Amino acid sequence: MLEKRLVTERIGKIRPESITDYVDSGGYEALKKALKKTRIEVLEEIEDSRLRGRGGAGFPVAVKMMAMAKESQTPKYIVCNADEGEPGNFKDRYLMENDPHHILEGMLIAAYATMAGKGYIYIRGEYSKSLKMMRQAISEAEKKGFAGKSIFGKDFDFTFEIRSGAGSYVCGEEFSLLESIEGKPGHTRVKPPFPTEQGLFGYPTLINNIETFSTLPVIMEMSGKAYAKLGTKSSTGTKLISLSGNVKNKGVYEVPYGLPIRTVIEAFGGGVPEGRKIKMVQLGGACGPIIPEYMLDMIIDFERFEEFESKVGAGAIIVIDDRFDIFDILKHTAEFFSHESCGKCTPCREGNTHLKNIIDKFHRYEAREEDMNLLENLARVMHQTSLCGLGQTAPTAVISTLHYFRSAYLERIEKSFLEEGHDAKYQNQQSRA
Ligand SMILES: Cc1cc2nc3c(=O)[nH]c(=O)nc-3n(C[C@H](O)[C@H](O)[C@H](O)COP(=O)(O)O)c2cc1C
Ligand code: SF4
Repeated sequence: MLEKRLVTERIGKIRPESITDYVDSGGYEALKKALKKTRIEVLEEIEDSRLRGRGGAGFPVAVKMMAMAKESQTPKYIVCNADEGEPGNFKDRYLMENDPHHILEGMLIAAYATMAGKGYIYIRGEYSKSLKMMRQAISEAEKKGFAGKSIFGKDFDFTFEIRSGAGSYVCGEEFSLLESIEGKPGHTRVKPPFPTEQGLFGYPTLINNIETFSTLPVIMEMSGKAYAKLGTKSSTGTKLISLSGNVKNKGVYEVPYGLPIRTVIEAFGGGVPEGRKIKMVQLGGACGPIIPEYMLDMIIDFERFEEFESKVGAGAIIVIDDRFDIFDILKHTAEFFSHESCGKCTPCREGNTHLKNIIDKFHRYEAREEDMNLLENLARVMHQTSLCGLGQTAPTAVISTLHYFRSAYLERIEKSFLEEGHDAKYQNQQSRA
């Protein structure tokens, strides 16, 4: 069996709204186990697992938690990032709707280890069912004494609060998210200081993705060392993949790192419908690279992806078959980023508008060679100089297609030139300019 269900082990076996089902299936035992250990022992267990964040950047979880644990300033906060605004990702919603207590349990383990007293869960506003499920789970956990004061009779108090996003993609970026919880517009901050030093309301804050928190009970149950044996050297454990696009079976699949992308598409997704061929695959979501079919034997692994200037990201795999025009995909991506840029810094604010306009020219068969050069320079500048990850990754689809699908750009330029009327129109524009 290629799927390895650890984080999603209970899904489909318990009623997600029932805390009794969760407890009867061994739920909150990992927390109990953690509370029997010292805080340092819990941190060491997580360090042994070599778990990396599942929200996109893949930062080592223990490093962040240890930095937070060292801070003496109080109060300390835990923030669960459930914004999931990246197109093509839906695995966080899957976790919230199908196993909400697992997320709470993970947050409680993190809180105990880092001495945090309050947790915020920032949920994408459009996810009404997730909001309902998480609210209900918190209320049930409080009634059972798994949240609140003296949890399991220990000197450990922790409360939860839910905040709902208002539809802004950038609010998934950690600093923008913190600003949003504080009631301010969702704009990033200059770092350092990092959230573990000065996060929410200026206090030490640990912010992680839902899947990251949901993995902590698994690690406590099976031990960090056993967890680290799964997956690959640089990427231990399992990853939830949101598989979508032109595949027969779209859905969320939990797989060990190290599995080839092609296996996920064929074994879980059932391949492309009606015998069509895969033309390209976008990895991670709108902010991720677009790769050609011949690269699908690449394994899901942080290091391997980086070799190809790719990112595992939050784990989206979007399959696009041979009916689709690459410039349709790029146009949608460019429109998305142009709309979502918060406008705080020039490379992203202005860059995304220019990028969209140039892609539009390719889309309308009006592009010239100088547009391609301009696109290349613009994408590089945006990537290198934008203030936050949104502007830095907005040109990724363009950068990757300029590399892997260069011939498509050149063909489009040639066709643009030959298209009747466009050349005359172009000449007119030049003479007017
Ligand atoms: C524009 C943008 C949007 C992001 N959206 C999300 C998101 O929806 N969920 C998420 O977990 N991380 C998101 N991130 C990454 C967070 O900034 C942060 O790295 C993450 O929450 C850390 O958690 P992890 O270490 O568990 O991955 C986003 C980053 C950027 C730049
Ligand atoms: S990169 Fe874009 S989203 Fe980020 S701060 Fe600059 S303008 Fe705002």
